Amino acid sequence: MEKTSDKLWSGRFTESTDALVESFGASVSFDRRLYRHDIEGSLAHARMLTRAGVLTEGELAAIERGLGDIRTDIERGDFAWLVEFEDVHMNIEARLTERIGEAGKKLHTGRSRNDQVATDLRLYLRDEVDAIDAGLQGLQRVLLDIAEREAETIMPGFTHLQVAQPVTFGHHLMAWFEMLQRDRGRLADCRRRINIMPLGAAALAGTSYPIDRAYTAQLLGFDAAAANSLDAVSDRDFAIEFTSAAALLMVHLSRCSEELILWSSAQFGFIELSDGYCTGSSIMPQKKNPDMPELVRGKSGRAIGNLMALLTLMKGQPLAYNKDNQEDKEPLFDSIDTVKACLRVFAGMLPGMQIRRERMVQSARLGYSTATDLADYLVRKGIAFRDAHEIVGKSVRYAIDQGKELAALTLEELRGFSAAIGDDVYAVLTVEGSVAARNHPGGTAPAQVRSAIAQARRLLG
Ligand code: ARG
Repeated sequence: MEKTSDKLWSGRFTESTDALVESFGASVSFDRRLYRHDIEGSLAHARMLTRAGVLTEGELAAIERGLGDIRTDIERGDFAWLVEFEDVHMNIEARLTERIGEAGKKLHTGRSRNDQVATDLRLYLRDEVDAIDAGLQGLQRVLLDIAEREAETIMPGFTHLQVAQPVTFGHHLMAWFEMLQRDRGRLADCRRRINIMPLGAAALAGTSYPIDRAYTAQLLGFDAAAANSLDAVSDRDFAIEFTSAAALLMVHLSRCSEELILWSSAQFGFIELSDGYCTGSSIMPQKKNPDMPELVRGKSGRAIGNLMALLTLMKGQPLAYNKDNQEDKEPLFDSIDTVKACLRVFAGMLPGMQIRRERMVQSARLGYSTATDLADYLVRKGIAFRDAHEIVGKSVRYAIDQGKELAALTLEELRGFSAAIGDDVYAVLTVEGSVAARNHPGGTAPAQVRSAIAQARRLLG
């Protein structure tokens, strides 16, 4: 095959690239989303080169103008992305040279696509982490508003999905808040390691030009330049960390989704999601399906898959850069898109949810959820906990047979199980008494929920 192409790296080649190789090797269809950060990185690199005397002021001006115009073209949809130029980097560079000539060819001095792509990815991910954090905060605020309204709403708390003890709905929602707060912590932690600059590593060994990495890092808002050039171009651990934090965040949203789905079933009937967030069935006219939480639960699968993909992608790679790393982008982008969309859906869906307070409290009452309170009451009357446990177990058995809740048993019936029971027992048998008694930091009492909310609001600022 005669060499026909003018690829940016074609100097040592005598034949042109096979068409299949060209399309198989190209990443432009997906990495073009890095264009803004690619241009930002190039501008900083060119400024640094000019300060170092490698480029002239005139060349820099031409590069700045050219890259600015290219950015405008891309944003207008006026930029033809070509597979023959393989990726976002070479598409932009080739277009720059087309537009400004000689100076365009000098932009890549002291740089390689290896440090360029690692830089682009870090700049891009840094922005996305900030956007996701904003999304998380937004959802947290939604939760705080609902938790505040529902600080006194009583619902059954579950273990093994069996009614365990009454809790307040506000307390339950604040548990979700905490999960998201830790997700934010993980993202903030991983952001510190994202914000390190690979530029200057060039292909793998650094460059012979008199570069000033600290200056480029400062221009790009990086905390520091990477300490080792081989490491800088090869590791994608920052993307893996992010994807891991994203997977865990999606696991959290999936668990919340599962609860929303259960609660909206006729059997629970605790909530009703708004019509706008549900769909009907094409055959069963009565159906109102919680599709959105189901989809979020389902999408956690891809977030976990993306993490596995990146871990597997990395594990066999020797130093330094390998083309394998081109495969880091789609899983990373997919995790970002998935998380952002799911956060948006959640923040949009929760405020419109109707809360069936009567159903919730009724379900707590009917589930013998204050049995532990009765046992604690007996302990306060001097009975050993194990004996109290036995006495209460028998009382519950009896109440079930009678089809009554514990608080509906007469004093006489209750005293049949223990003479220690007096008429003050009813204060602990009610679900209201039960939640109010758990009045310590971290507990479910309405007063504690309110103080947890106040603290959370201070945290969010
Ligand atoms: N598209 C490539 C990637 O995503 C850019 C770096 C290519 N470097 C190379 N030596 N082939 O990783």
